[in-house]
Order: sequence, then C-alpha cells, then structure tokens
Amino acid sequence: MTMHVTMTVNGSEVERDIEPRVLLVHFLREDLGLTGTHWGCDTSNCGTCVVQLDGEPVKSCTVLAAMADGHTVKTVEGLEQGGQLDPIQQGFMEEHGLQCGFCTPGMMLTARALLDRSPNPSEGEIREAISGQICRCTGYATIVRAVQWAAEHEGADAAGGGPTNGQLETEGAHA
Ligand code: FES
Ligand code: FES
Repeated sequence: MTMHVTMTVNGSEVERDIEPRVLLVHFLREDLGLTGTHWGCDTSNCGTCVVQLDGEPVKSCTVLAAMADGHTVKTVEGLEQGGQLDPIQQGFMEEHGLQCGFCTPGMMLTARALLDRSPNPSEGEIREAISGQICRCTGYATIVRAVQWAAEHEGADAAGGGPTNGQLETEGAHA
C-alpha cells in the first residue's frame, strides 16, 4: 500500500507515493537524495538526523514522512541561498565547529532555529538547544562559538553594520 504525500522541501514542492511506514530521514535521503541529513542511531539518541519541520528542529528518525505531508521541511541543503552561506554555516567554518562533520547538519539546523527565535542566545541557551544532539569530536566548545559567531554577525546586520550577511538573513535563513 502506498500513500501520496506533498510537502515543501527547501523551498520546492515535492510529491511522492510512499509507504506509510517510511521515516522522514529515509524519505529525505533515499527518495529525494538529500543525503546531507545523516542517519546515526534510529533510536532518537544521537540527533544527527535533525531537520526543521515548519521551522522547528525535529529528529527526522522519529517522524514519519507521512506526518510531514502538507508541511515545510528544511534540510542542510536549504541553508545556503544563491551561493551565499547561511551565517550559521559561516560560523561553523570560522570557528572550526566541526571535525568529522557527522553531527554538523543537525547541529546547524538546530542552531538556525535557535537564532530565528532568539537572536542573541546565551551560552547556556545554545548548550540547551543542542543538548539532544551528540558530537563525538569537538567537545562542543567550538560548536558554541560557531553559533555565537553567527549571532554576532546577524546582529551586526540587523543594526545595518554587517558587510556581508544581511543578504543572507533576508533571502535565505527563513525560507
Ligand atoms: S538517527 Fe535520529 S536521533 Fe539518531
Ligand atoms: S564533528 Fe564529528 S561528531 Fe561532531
């Protein structure tokens, strides 16, 4: 038995016939080829599969693709817009927020959602936001600094002083 689903993924409407049991993480990776969303445990422990569903970070191994029918999904592939990195991506680059990179897509989607609702989070807020996600490499300090870098540079844009990222914020971060 299959069912028909329609959803907006990274700004584009997609339609597929799927089995009702298919998890969103597998739908994204295998049906849509969006392999930037990683799959680590399938038991809701690691958080590497985090994507945004209607702007909220969710572990896509705990969501059926059918539950996303009619909703909006953003994956790591949707962060960059028009050849411009999202400030979160730039922050991870500037502050060396990744080593192996396995946790990184999920971390960035969670961080993007955090900054969208709280533009100047404290270190504690950042650590709480990513507390459901495991990084085996960095010790988290550089991830926190990456998010702080993005917050500082987006804040500069909001004040009219940022040279590069205002365009990113308005065009790409909230698609
Ligand atoms: S694969 Fe989803 S939490 Fe680990
Ligand atoms: S960078 Fe390797 S798991 Fe986080």
